[in-house]
Amino acid sequence: MKENLQKYVDERGQGGLDVGKSVELFRRYAYMEQSCVRALAGWFLKIPDWEMKIELGYHLYAHAERVNELGTRLEELRGGRHRDANIEPGLARIGEELIHAPDEQCFLAGLSWMLHNLADIYREHTLVADSSANALEIRILLRLLSDVEREAESVKKLQLKLQDSEGAAQWSAYLDELLQEIGGIGGLSSRNARQIVRPEKAIFEWPTPMIFDSRIREADLGSYESKLSLPLKERSIGEFQVYFNEFYAAALLATIIYDSWKLDAPRQYFMDIAHHFWDEVRHAEFGAIRLRELGTEPSIVNMVLFEQSQGIPLLHRLCYLTLGLEVYFMPRKSVRVRFYEQQGDPRSQLFADVDWSDESNHVRYGKRWVDYMLKDDARSIEDLQEEITKYLEAYANNSSAGKVPW
Ligand SMILES: [Fe+2]
Ligand SMILES: [Fe+2]
Repeated sequence: MKENLQKYVDERGQGGLDVGKSVELFRRYAYMEQSCVRALAGWFLKIPDWEMKIELGYHLYAHAERVNELGTRLEELRGGRHRDANIEPGLARIGEELIHAPDEQCFLAGLSWMLHNLADIYREHTLVADSSANALEIRILLRLLSDVEREAESVKKLQLKLQDSEGAAQWSAYLDELLQEIGGIGGLSSRNARQIVRPEKAIFEWPTPMIFDSRIREADLGSYESKLSLPLKERSIGEFQVYFNEFYAAALLATIIYDSWKLDAPRQYFMDIAHHFWDEVRHAEFGAIRLRELGTEPSIVNMVLFEQSQGIPLLHRLCYLTLGLEVYFMPRKSVRVRFYEQQGDPRSQLFADVDWSDESNHVRYGKRWVDYMLKDDARSIEDLQEEITKYLEAYANNSSAGKVPW
């Protein structure tokens, strides 16, 4: 829709955007981008096609990066903090609705609709801004614009993979009505009060277990030790099935991202959990790439560690993954890289090497943020770990819960 930033600039007669308006616009953009992060975290679990999940994972990180970049500028500009306290309820409603798309076609249609609106306003903003007074915002928005346009192209291709759904057009028309009611993302267009009918079945529910299509079944991955004596090819297949299974870690992070939606934490926290999530998505992708190169299709997952952790608080989930599981898996990482190197398997070595590096970061993120959240807390990390054990044991009354089966 037409955002009318030009009219605002013309009426003020300053030939650019004042600080107050720049701040307000950046807050609104950041809010919309953040809403996409949350919606993508939810639909990552719900969309059945795993290739699509991976692509959505890339997009989630892109949105998080854009939120971060807008946030960096907001922290510099006078009056830029406390985004959520300043958000107009009508805009908040749109952000909250995105995830409630009735089905996956609707979700992608809504995301695509949002990307086009973001691209429109980012473009318009760069055109009406003053090239000197607003130079920093222009540089940021030009970067964001090309990123959003690339994502819109990718989402269009994802939409073509799915069958048509009648509801999809209706869903984006509904979102559009909401947006027109508040005068666009920038809030500067004319506002029309409307009778807006919310489509039926628009309620997001967390799927348990995580949804995969019929190509993927739940099965045992075999223990780590059982693979060590296998010949190279069989061992690589076994180990890259375990990489593919990192969907479980990505799913766990997706719930952390979703539950952190209104958490009061520094900007870097949101960036780290998105980065961590995306790394796990890429590790699952490493598995898929290498399995295909080795002549086999990904076909199994084991989501037990994800499912066991679903009833426990966000802080405990974060601690369990980063300072429990990831620390537990760490000694295997260097061994794997050396093994592939010695065996002359440079492709497997590449993926194992990058994974090792990423995983060291994850433990660092975990330590930093668990410490941060325990700052005004009488408990230590050890206390937290005891609580996690109790939570996991209570899971389906299972005393073997929390044991790593691969
Ligand atoms: Fe990983
Ligand atoms: Fe990790």
